[in-house]
Parts: sequence; C-alpha cells; structure tokens
Amino acid sequence: MNPKPPTLRIDIISVQPDLLHSPFQHSIMKRAQEKGLLEVVVHDLKKYGHGKHNQVDDYQYGGGAGMVMMIEPVDKCIQQLKQARDYDEVIYLSPDGELLDQHLANQLSLSKAMIFLCGHYKGIDERIREHLITREVSIGNYVLSGGELGAAVLVDTIGRLIPGVLNNEVSALEDSFQDDLVAPPVYTRPELYKDWSVPPVLISGHAAKIEEWRRTEALKRTAIRRPELYQKWLDQKL
Ligand code: ADE
Repeated sequence: MNPKPPTLRIDIISVQPDLLHSPFQHSIMKRAQEKGLLEVVVHDLKKYGHGKHNQVDDYQYGGGAGMVMMIEPVDKCIQQLKQARDYDEVIYLSPDGELLDQHLANQLSLSKAMIFLCGHYKGIDERIREHLITREVSIGNYVLSGGELGAAVLVDTIGRLIPGVLNNEVSALEDSFQDDLVAPPVYTRPELYKDWSVPPVLISGHAAKIEEWRRTEALKRTAIRRPELYQKWLDQKL
C-alpha cells in the first residue's frame, strides 16, 4: 500500500466565520477531513481585533466611503499561525487576483499548509498585501461581498485533488479542464427513457471503443463550448 499522504492544512481567516462552517461538513470535503487528508480551520478575525470592541476595520486615509480591514488584527492572526507551522502560501481572496483555474488548483493541491484571508468592506490595508500576502486569487470576474465564498470554492477545488480523497482516483483526473478539455457526456439507467436513448457504444462493453468515444466527445464539446480551450489544446499538440 502507498504511504498515506500528509494532511493538507488550510487556515481561513474571516470576519464572517459562520459562512464557512457548512461548506466543509458535507460530502467529499467532509470525507477528506475524516480520512485525515484535509484539515480546514476557520479563524474569527474579530478575536484578534483592536481595543475593547475588537475592532477589525477603520475609515480609509484620504477620505471616501467604505471601511478598510486593519493590518494589526490580520498580522496578529497570521503570526500566531506561523508560530505553529510553516505555510507554503498566504492567499488573499480578491477579485483582482489571478484567476482560479484547474492548473492553479493542481499546483496549490501540492501544498502542505496555506492561509486564506477573506476580505470584506472596501478592501484590506494595502500593507497586508505588500508584506503578508504571497498570492492573490480570484474565483471569477465578478465581485462577491466577501472572500468567504471564494475561499469555500478554493478549498473544494483543491481538496478533491488530494490523492485518496475521491474513492475513484481516476475520476479527478477525468474532470473537465484536467487536460484542458471539458468532460464528455455521462449517462445512467434507464437505457431508454421515453424515446431518448443512451449512445450504444456505452453499452457495448468494449472498453477501448468507449474510451475513444469519450475522447472524441470531449474534443467535440470543447470545440463547440470552449473554442479558446480547444485552440490551446491544438497548439499544445503541435
Ligand atoms: N472577493 C470578492 N470578489 C471575489 C472574487 N471574485 N474572487 C475571490 N474573492 C473575492
């Protein structure tokens, strides 16, 4: 048997920790944690807040609407975490970060420990980005009201890639985008519903033909739905 891979630990710093309790308590993320392959710990930034009101945000210098997340509570929390272990990355979830895709998820899934910082309000004091953050990640070209949903997406995308998390390890490799192609269509019983049938090749029991059909369908689908990915795939083939 292969030795068990080390646990990937992800610490998430948030001012809305309740938003992050449910996403990791179901299905694959739950199983990943039960198997000891993934550990997700959510930290309430307000516990590190300034003064007796545990303040974590303040007015921005120079004036303007919107509060800004203060550096001191974030720094205190990160330094405390860093005393316990080394971190590969300290990631700020931000709409102006690098766009999350399968390649980035694959790369991050090789980490041992990461901190995710969820932003709120108008943004975070720029010094946090300059001195404490190693990487910024966006989950899409739209603005969320906070980084928590982004962090949940990132944990899920990365967590399912850890070897041993999915029962059938091949299936993570066959996901859409894993080789820059979208996934081929899938079918289950019944073979005929109304007059809508399953492609006969899938019932043929001929493994090589099924494999070939899936590959062709994935290519066709990519060319139609995601021409830019198809072009990339063609370019890589040259
Ligand atoms: N915070 C706000 N918008 C975001 C986005 N698109 N991705 C990640 N974090 C965010």
